[in-house]
Amino acid sequence: MTSSTTETVAVPATSTKLAAGQKHRVLSGMQPSADSLHLGNYIGALVNWVRMQDEYDAIFFIPDLHAITVPQDPAELAHRTRVTAAQYIAGGVDVDKCTLFVQSQVPEHAQLAWVLNCITGFGEASRMTQFKDKAQKQGTDQASVGLFTYPILQAADILLYQPHGVPVGEDQRQHVELSRDLANRFNSRFGETFQVPEAFIQKESAKIYDLQNPTAKMSKSAESPAGLINLLDDPKTTAKRIKSAVTDTETEIRFDREAKPGISNLLTIYSTISGQPVEKIVADYQGKMYGHLKVDLAELVTNHLTPIRERAQELLADPAELDRLLAHGADKAREIASATLADVYAKVGFLPYGGAR
Ligand code: AMP
Ligand code: TRP
Repeated sequence: MTSSTTETVAVPATSTKLAAGQKHRVLSGMQPSADSLHLGNYIGALVNWVRMQDEYDAIFFIPDLHAITVPQDPAELAHRTRVTAAQYIAGGVDVDKCTLFVQSQVPEHAQLAWVLNCITGFGEASRMTQFKDKAQKQGTDQASVGLFTYPILQAADILLYQPHGVPVGEDQRQHVELSRDLANRFNSRFGETFQVPEAFIQKESAKIYDLQNPTAKMSKSAESPAGLINLLDDPKTTAKRIKSAVTDTETEIRFDREAKPGISNLLTIYSTISGQPVEKIVADYQGKMYGHLKVDLAELVTNHLTPIRERAQELLADPAELDRLLAHGADKAREIASATLADVYAKVGFLPYGGAR
């Protein structure tokens, strides 16, 4: 997947000047909230991350502190954190090129979040639409205070590392905006401290839809698993789901998101996995039937995902080694995070620790 036609994230020109040899920094994370990532996570996020790690100083993490803003089974959370990490690595995140860690292993996230909580307005936090949506789903009385302050913890995740860019889906734009507001506010109250980050928003062409309901985005919270392609599913299941994808009653293979959402989704998947432009695929399938496209796509996707699944399983078979890789990442992350936090603590007027800890 090297073709420029598969570029899936909009990167605004940044005004930040770099010293020779220095790279712009990007940071992102995906919650450990399922037993497998799905193809939307893979194409919409992971593929981009992998592409970015050469050009950028990249930091990727697993926001497990965010996961507990809604109830979690402890054993399941631990499992999902490892599974998520294994899929990042199996999908191409290279721990020698970038920094990969688990959020709860870097205590500075929670520490900075507290300081940021104290410069965020209650009304400002109340305007975060994801909170409103998630709280409504649970019943507002059930929603935790952690869920309410979720975006402020996210701002801490970001600001600790002084990144220039935060590659995320459109749904996270408001949270990146909040981080920018908090960075600017802190900087103007206490003096220049934080880099003000830019959102690198995922392009529409990187959005993957549910195979059974192709106007809804592919999501782990889908009503039925039949519309999902999971990275860790066995190839038979994946092939079956692709072959049963909902299409339309016409026969012509062409890209038309409005009139033909099912076929258009299959073409997007084909294009991003093969690296070929949609127009070429459409031309190649002129006069062929939907069934042909589905059979070929099933083979393309399963061939692509098989080595990723196998590598993830290998990593999961040796959890001690995986934990060691993550600990190494957490140590690297802490070097940056602790410097930022020390600066913040000094600026707000906390006494320096004078002991020998
Ligand atoms: P989620 O676990 O749903 O919060 O997704 C984590 C990230 O994966 C999002 O921020 C998006 O970048 C990406 N993502 C999730 N679902 C899709 C999808 N259906 N199509 C493309 N990208 C997606
Ligand atoms: N809230 C993000 C999501 O649900 C995950 C996340 C947490 C994140 N902290 C972050 C993403 C910092 C980017 C940067 O997708």
